[in-house]
Amino acid sequence: MKTATAESTVPEQMSESPVRVAVVVGSNREGRFGPVVAGWLLDRIGERDDFLPEVLDVASVELPTALSHSPSPAVAAELAKVTPALADADAFIVLTPEYNHSFPAGLKNLIDWHYGEWRAKPVALVSYGGVSGGLRAVEHLRQVFAELHAVTVRDTVSFHGAGAAFDEAGHPRDAVGPAAAAKTMLDQLGWWARALKEARGKRPYGG
Ligand SMILES: Cc1cc2nc3c(=O)[nH]c(=O)nc-3n(C[C@H](O)[C@H](O)[C@H](O)COP(=O)(O)O)c2cc1C
Repeated sequence: MKTATAESTVPEQMSESPVRVAVVVGSNREGRFGPVVAGWLLDRIGERDDFLPEVLDVASVELPTALSHSPSPAVAAELAKVTPALADADAFIVLTPEYNHSFPAGLKNLIDWHYGEWRAKPVALVSYGGVSGGLRAVEHLRQVFAELHAVTVRDTVSFHGAGAAFDEAGHPRDAVGPAAAAKTMLDQLGWWARALKEARGKRPYGG
């Protein structure tokens, strides 16, 4: 019979290095609110020791909407800003606002320029917007990432009326609810990231 101590022992492989997570900031509009939400999320990640975040900002990369298998040197240089980080990541957190009941075109463009980088990895979704808190954008992204053989985690963080939900210092006026939601989401993301990394190491994904 297993002892309580043995049951609660974390297997060595599971307690090892932090999960490399790419935090994708999905808006690039002039005067955008996205960085406020990203700053808050990075603070929550920084309170834990199980994630190593790298920020990928859609506003920092200029990718044409015309996709190409042989991108020009200029486009290749833009891809070099993001593709290696997406490839190296074992998990993603995508921050999305809601634009016209979906997610922004710039975010879709970044997603579409890549394929294998998303494959057999988990994606957590943080949304913000008006009355819906970006939840319609989230549900659209679930369909997109399913096509890319990625797994979206069940729980999300969403901010309704995002502008009013944060104070001037960039802190949510309700600190407790969003922090609890972020913990749940990050716990799920960490589980999937480790499980899928282990599975990818054992056998190539066959989809
Ligand atoms: C083009 C556009 C369309 C929008 N459509 C919606 C919408 O359908 N539903 C919603 O709740 N909010 C909508 N909003 C409000 C945005 O979600 C909100 O302003 C958010 O802060 C935008 O993110 P950003 O500031 O990072 O660009 C829209 C905003 C823009 C600019």
